[in-house]
Amino acid sequence: MKNCDSPIGVFDSGLGGLTVLKEIHHALPEENTVYLGDTARVPYGIRSNETVLKYCFENVRFLMDREIKLLVVACNTASSIAIERIRESIGIPVIGVIEPGARAAISAAQNNIAVIGTETTIKSGAYQKAIKELDTTVKVESRACPLFVPLVEEGWIDNEVAKLVAEKYLLDLRNVDALVLGCTHYPLLRAVIGEVMGTVPLIDSALETAREVMSVLTSAGTLRSKNRQDDKPGKHEYYVTDMPQKFYELVERFLGHSAENLSKVDL
Ligand code: DGL
Repeated sequence: MKNCDSPIGVFDSGLGGLTVLKEIHHALPEENTVYLGDTARVPYGIRSNETVLKYCFENVRFLMDREIKLLVVACNTASSIAIERIRESIGIPVIGVIEPGARAAISAAQNNIAVIGTETTIKSGAYQKAIKELDTTVKVESRACPLFVPLVEEGWIDNEVAKLVAEKYLLDLRNVDALVLGCTHYPLLRAVIGEVMGTVPLIDSALETAREVMSVLTSAGTLRSKNRQDDKPGKHEYYVTDMPQKFYELVERFLGHSAENLSKVDL
């Protein structure tokens, strides 16, 4: 039986969703969370829609078995392919990262927005559609940057290789009003991307997604903080499908806290 103490479930193909989880922890420190990183099968963004859908449903089943009260699909690739199908198939609120990212983009720029993401996300046109739904006059260009995810998964976020790759992908996009980091892995490369893009604002959906989580839980009356007398911090569980040690080290490095309660699982 789900209640206020039930956890929020979050999944991504690997580490990237931690950028969203971090904002959820920050905005809602009393909430219990369960994070699943499908590290055995990352990257999703180079796979067919059919394969991404299959992986998503395996992730959803695993998290539903943990009695989650709300699901965050903290992966743009998965959100662009599977969000509607997931929404139709489970009886709890489901939040993706595309609409929050589009809202954040529109509030930062009105004329010329560029979106970068995985091949699958860009090919789906989901960002372009979500942005145009908010403002039909805005010009949106998009570009796939497939080498960024392996760089992040390897922990190569601030070296000369990351810089070179960022230059190769982005140098000719420096005339836009805002660049949407349309993959949850990309905020981890914010420093090198920012160096290449100069003063162009970099938009990611993490903060806006955390706000939406808070608003949905508030409306549903299942916000943990509002239903407790003490302000005990939430408990956090982490699951990965491969390489837990590497995940543990990278979480510590990127998020500055350790992923206690980390287990490897087979889906
Ligand atoms: N972090 C994910 C995204 O937002 C997935 C990257 C991948 O697995 O290719 O698209």
